[in-house]
Amino acid sequence: MELLRVNKISKQYKKIKAVEEISFTVKKGEILGLLGPNGAGKSTTISMISTLIRPDAGEIYYADTNIVDKPKVIQESLGYVPQEIALYPMLSGKENLEFWGRAYKLKGKALKDKIEEISEIIGIKERLKDKVKTYSGGMKRRLNIGAALLHDPELIIMDEPTVGIDPQSRKHILDTVIELNKKGMTVIYTSHYMEEVEYLCSRICIMDQGKIIAEGTKQELIERFDSSRDIKLKLENYTDAVLEKIKALECVISVDTKEDLIVVKAKQDKNLFKSIIDLLNDNGVDIHSMDIDEANLETVFLQLTGRVLRD
Ligand SMILES: Nc1ncnc2c1ncn2[C@@H]1O[C@H](COP(=O)(O)OP(=O)(O)OP(=O)(O)O)[C@@H](O)[C@H]1O
Ligand SMILES: [Mg+2]
Repeated sequence: MELLRVNKISKQYKKIKAVEEISFTVKKGEILGLLGPNGAGKSTTISMISTLIRPDAGEIYYADTNIVDKPKVIQESLGYVPQEIALYPMLSGKENLEFWGRAYKLKGKALKDKIEEISEIIGIKERLKDKVKTYSGGMKRRLNIGAALLHDPELIIMDEPTVGIDPQSRKHILDTVIELNKKGMTVIYTSHYMEEVEYLCSRICIMDQGKIIAEGTKQELIERFDSSRDIKLKLENYTDAVLEKIKALECVISVDTKEDLIVVKAKQDKNLFKSIIDLLNDNGVDIHSMDIDEANLETVFLQLTGRVLRD
C-alpha cells in the first residue's frame, strides 16, 4: 500500500535549483533510501515532505491528501529527525524528551512511560539525567532520534542520522532503524553513505543535482547500471593463446594484463567463474589468486554521473 506520493516537486533558492521535479512513492512498511552526495537536494526534499518548507511546484500526497495544502494531515503521523541536532544542551536527556513530549501533548504517566520506552530503544537510559552538553556526538544523535519517536509516528524521516559519529553509535542507530521498521514503522532514510543505504533500505532513490537519477532495489540498480565485473587473476604457466581463449568466452568483455595481474572484465553471468576456472584447468594453468570486485552502488553512481559518490 502506498503511504506517500511525491509528484514533481521543485524548490529553487534564488539561482540554485535545489530540487527539480522530483517524483517518488513510499510504500507502507518499507525503508526507502535517498542516497546522494552533498548538495544533491536530499534535505530540501524531506523538508518539503515534513512540511517545513513549501515546494514551488508539485504535490505531496499522504494518505490521498495533498499535504502542501493541508500540512496538518501529515504532521501528527510524522517523526522528523533533522540533520542538525535540535536539542537543548543545558537540559538533561530526560528534560529534552519531556519538552518534545509536551509539544506532542503527552503528560503524566503516559509521558513518563514513553520516555522510559524510548530511552531503552535509543540506548541512553543510564545517561538520561545528565546534561546533553556532556553527551558524545553519537548520544546526541540518538537522543535526536528519540525526540522524533515520542508520538508513535507512522512515518519517520531521518536526515543523515549517522554523520560524524563513532562506529558503535552508528551500529546502534542502524539497528534501531531496523527494529522500528520491524514494528511497522515506515522509514525514509537519507544518507551519502552507500553502505548504510545498501544495508537498510528495501528501495533506493539515487539523487544528484536536484534530481532522482535512478530508483530501484540495490539488485535492480546494479543489474541495470553496473552489469560488468572485474576479475583479477594471478596465474602461472599461462600463454597468450590461453588469454585469447578467455577473451573468446561469451560473457567476457576484455582481458588486460597489469604487471603480474590479469584483469578480466566480464558481464554478470552465473557460469562466469566456472567457465574461467575450467578453461584455465584444461590448459594446465595454475591459479594463484582470484579477486572479484563486488558490484555496489558506488559504481552505479559512477556509471550514472561519471563522478564518485564520496566527498
Ligand atoms: N536555505 C537555503 N538557501 C539557499 N540555498 C539553499 C538552501 N538550502 C539548500 N540550498 C542549496 O540547495 C542545494 C541542495 O541542498 P540540500 O541541503 O537539500 O542538499 P543535501 O543533499 O541535503 O546535501 P548534504 O548532503 O550536504 O546535506 C544546495 O546547492 C544548497 O546549497
Ligand atoms: Mg542534507
